[in-house]
Amino acid sequence: MHSLDTLAILALLLTTSLAQQTRTVFQFPKPTWLENIATTRTGHLLTGVLNKAPAELHIVDPFGTYEASSANATLLHSFPGVNTVFGISEYAPDLFAVATGDYSPSTGATKGTYAVWTVDISRPDDTKVHKIADLPNIEVINGLAALNKDAILLADSFAGTVVRLDVKTGRSHTVINDGSTAFAAPLGVNGLKVLHATNPPTLYYTNSGLNATFSAPIHPTTGKLDGNVSMLASNESVPDDLAVTDDETMFFAKPYAGTLTRAKAGEKAVVVAGSVGSLELGGVTSATLGRSYKDRGVVYVATMGGFNADGSYAEGGKIVAVEVGN
Ligand SMILES: *[C@@H]1O[C@H](CO)[C@@H](O)[C@H](O)[C@H]1NC(C)=O
Ligand SMILES: *[C@@H]1O[C@H](CO)[C@@H](O)[C@H](O)[C@H]1NC(C)=O
Ligand SMILES: *[C@@H]1O[C@H](CO)[C@@H](O)[C@H](O)[C@H]1NC(C)=O
Ligand SMILES: *[C@@H]1O[C@H](CO)[C@@H](O)[C@H](O)[C@H]1NC(C)=O
Repeated sequence: MHSLDTLAILALLLTTSLAQQTRTVFQFPKPTWLENIATTRTGHLLTGVLNKAPAELHIVDPFGTYEASSANATLLHSFPGVNTVFGISEYAPDLFAVATGDYSPSTGATKGTYAVWTVDISRPDDTKVHKIADLPNIEVINGLAALNKDAILLADSFAGTVVRLDVKTGRSHTVINDGSTAFAAPLGVNGLKVLHATNPPTLYYTNSGLNATFSAPIHPTTGKLDGNVSMLASNESVPDDLAVTDDETMFFAKPYAGTLTRAKAGEKAVVVAGSVGSLELGGVTSATLGRSYKDRGVVYVATMGGFNADGSYAEGGKIVAVEVGN
């Protein structure tokens, strides 16, 4: 009797801990394609929607409870005239650079619609938004990563380049145009993150068409390559966006596989969550790290809802917490 109870409790603990490997934090209605995700200083999650006008930026409390009926409960800002929020990255405390433009999975990107904005969330009930610059010569802005408080790096996935945008002047120019960033159908360089824990900083990125992920030292102010490019993972079909920890571990999303993969120099890449054919992380597009004491060791991912066999969306995009350990 006693030992049976113990067994039952053990079994319960086991299933609970397995079930807690991933937890759906918030799910949007179908169809909602979440394209990118970033964590705020207070541990909230910013996420943007692709192919729905006006372009929406949402804020989600990963520990909050939401009424499913209040569809706009998490809407922080909408950008008129365009349908997509792409990369999101904090370049100074509470100041997020957010890329917008027109994009649809069927017709692609509309050159001339791309812009980068500052979204100031320092006052919780008074979000301030202003445009940093229009980027008429960019073909598409996909990933985006703060280089420092004065500059943002943008991935132009069609040009196959990384562009530096000066936050104050709004001027932009190409700083990386390498074999590792080059266009390869369907998209070249895609996700970008700058790791500041190394000296010089390290740019981590994916190239979707090359089925590979990379890291490279970059100059802290110019953003140019400052050493050799290393391939961290290869033969990884269509990697999208990523998160990177201070110990130089990359976690990247693969939407078609529906998996989150860990990659580190000198180690074999391994899937840490999701599996092919499962909706657990179906259509996962992007990843960001937990920043509060309550969610250390958590990678939050955003999804576009996954695909049915006929190519239609399987469910609404969602945010999922993935326990990856410390
Ligand atoms: C939700 O926000 C959108 C703007 O993105 C707006 O068009 C719509 O009317 C809002 N819906 C409700 C129920 O407030
Ligand atoms: C990338 O992977 C896809 C799917 O597995 C494959 O069709 C394609 O040829 C690969 N591309 C490269 C450059 O290896
Ligand atoms: C970069 O690669 C070249 C050629 O493989 C090598 O000679 C050089 O030592 C490398 N530089 C660094 C900083 O690793
Ligand atoms: C590439 O990945 C595919 C699918 O995961 C696998 O079947 C194949 O063996 C891999 N090829 C190499 C060279 O590792």
